[in-house]
Amino acid sequence: MNVLGIETSCDESSAAVVRNGTQILSNSIYSQAELHAQFGGVVPELASRDHLRRLPPLVQGALDTAGISWSEIGAVAVTAGPGLIGPLLVGVSYAKGVSWARDIPLLGVNHLAAHLFAHRLAHPESEPPLLGLIVSGGHTSLVEVPQWGQYRVVGSTRDDAAGEALDKFGRLVGLGYPAGPRIDELAAQGNPHAIALPRPLVETGLDMSFAGLKTAAVYWLRDHPRFRLEDLCASYLEAVVDVLTEKVMRAARLLDIGRVAVVGGVAANTRLRNVLPERARERGLDVLFPPTDLCTDNAAIVAACGHHRLISRGQGDSLHLKPDSGLALSS
Ligand code: KG4
Ligand code: ZN
Repeated sequence: MNVLGIETSCDESSAAVVRNGTQILSNSIYSQAELHAQFGGVVPELASRDHLRRLPPLVQGALDTAGISWSEIGAVAVTAGPGLIGPLLVGVSYAKGVSWARDIPLLGVNHLAAHLFAHRLAHPESEPPLLGLIVSGGHTSLVEVPQWGQYRVVGSTRDDAAGEALDKFGRLVGLGYPAGPRIDELAAQGNPHAIALPRPLVETGLDMSFAGLKTAAVYWLRDHPRFRLEDLCASYLEAVVDVLTEKVMRAARLLDIGRVAVVGGVAANTRLRNVLPERARERGLDVLFPPTDLCTDNAAIVAACGHHRLISRGQGDSLHLKPDSGLALSS
């Protein structure tokens, strides 16, 4: 069964073909980052229009790369939320058209569940129970996954997402949008202990908070006009990594889960990929990351998630499927 995946929830347009839920035949991604860079963040209306322009050739490209024809596509999966409503509408409308024209099942997929499926694509042998850490530009959540398709959110950020905290900090120090990858590079040349910054809520519970860290950086910058950017980036990133690491270890202990799947755009971060598995190993925890191209938004994870939905429910969604910008992660 070949599933066509479509992703347009934010500023990546992507189309992919995944066979039997695990084999990626193609995964074409177009990033709109350059379009939005001049505004310092995603402009929803521009994003919608660009998705509309990019999606049809991306889908054709995904079929061509996979080396298959339309008649070999058995279902179409699309991100139905959470995300920006205009961009979501473009993808969902397109997928409905495909479903109707080809008479194949339509699968509306939760974007956060799709991120978790990056773990399944990368490590098919790693079966639940799992603890998922979803760290992206819009979301930061700890999720208990007793089995694929079942999710229980056990902790979330109370304010900014981890990626948002990095992007907002990047804007403060003039790194452009999105700043996460630049901070990653600069931090590698800096001292993570050069500047003392807070680790909000690190001592308590499973919820997280990153807004206070950003405010601390604002005050630090006000009082220190001269600084080495590499050291500041490394110190700021270290605070984010420390908080995520502590929360993962606490959640794994409380839930008695031995394996952790880290997914979402921030899971591409080099420092997080080094520090978290190392500290967790000391406690007997196994922490796995997907390859970086499956961390950031892409349609292969949507297709994999949609395939699982189809197999477990035996049917697709109706053509009345509505995108939902605030769609919650539920079973
Ligand atoms: O999952 P994603 O592509 O989109 C959302 O669903 O939000 O995540 C995008 C986020 C952005 O905040 C971006 O700055 C961050 O992931 N990001 C990174 C890296 N690559 C992307 N953050 C830190 N280090 C990276 N290498
Ligand atoms: Zn995402």
